[in-house]
Amino acid sequence: MRTKMKAPAMNNTVKNMIRTLKLCTLLFIGTAAVAVQAEERELLHANNDVANKASLQRGARNFVNYCSGCHSTKYVRYNRLAVDLDLTDAQVKDNLIFTNAKVTDNMTINMDPADGKAWFGKTPPDLSLIARSRGTDYLYTFLHSFYLDPSRPTGMNNVVLPNAAMPNVLWELQGLQKAVYEGKTSEDGKRVDKVFKGLEADTKGKLSPEEYDQFVRDTVNFLDYVGEPGQVERRNLGIRVMGFLLVLFLLAYALKTEYWKDIK
Ligand code: HEC
Repeated sequence: MRTKMKAPAMNNTVKNMIRTLKLCTLLFIGTAAVAVQAEERELLHANNDVANKASLQRGARNFVNYCSGCHSTKYVRYNRLAVDLDLTDAQVKDNLIFTNAKVTDNMTINMDPADGKAWFGKTPPDLSLIARSRGTDYLYTFLHSFYLDPSRPTGMNNVVLPNAAMPNVLWELQGLQKAVYEGKTSEDGKRVDKVFKGLEADTKGKLSPEEYDQFVRDTVNFLDYVGEPGQVERRNLGIRVMGFLLVLFLLAYALKTEYWKDIK
């Protein structure tokens, strides 16, 4: 009786182990597939620096002027920006708040999510954690990848987010881009396929390409900061803790040598 009771229990453990193994393999394959895809898209590098306060100030200005009509960053309060970006509450109120929000409020928006969905087809997501979920290089590339596409409701498409519901809100600054295709004969030689080759400027924007890169870098920098406002502090603290541990180690070592020097 006992052995019979035990056998299924064993079986279950083995089954669970196999299931875990399968899951691990699937997860591994999943990550590998994502890595290949990202490589194919050839993301541009954001090269942003969250310790650069001037860049964060410009990024915050860009964000409230061009993005916060549709996107909230609801996990951050305005007065936290004041502290972290070296601004006074009054400067935040005058330059970064265009609604009747108070400096103690979170950076929410007035748009009803249902309205957003009705207007754009998708509700614009909150961007508090977007830099952490997608990565800064993706964001930098995303804001460089809108191109003319008359088949889309906004007249625009995006290379890294195909059929993006977001309008190309920075077109005046960057200028318009068009997609360039090249003909590629199919393997059986019967068709010539249009293969996406890259993006090319169609009209000039108000900013030069370098100025636009900086504009986007600052904006992405701000989103990176918003994803973890304490990250600069955390890094500095980490360095100080390591320094402290090093000094402690040297002292402890010197003490040990002193204690043991007479013992042969
Ligand atoms: C007019 C409204 C509007 C404005 C203004 C706007 N967006 Fe969006 N945004 C959207 C919508 C709608 C989506 C959802 C797109 C989708 O999933 O197809 C979106 C999605 C995004 C995403 C997510 C992309 C992804 O991969 O899922 C990012 C990042 C983003 N917006 C950044 C920005 C930034 C930065 C600005 C300011 C420069 C901005 N948006 C301004 C409407 C807007």
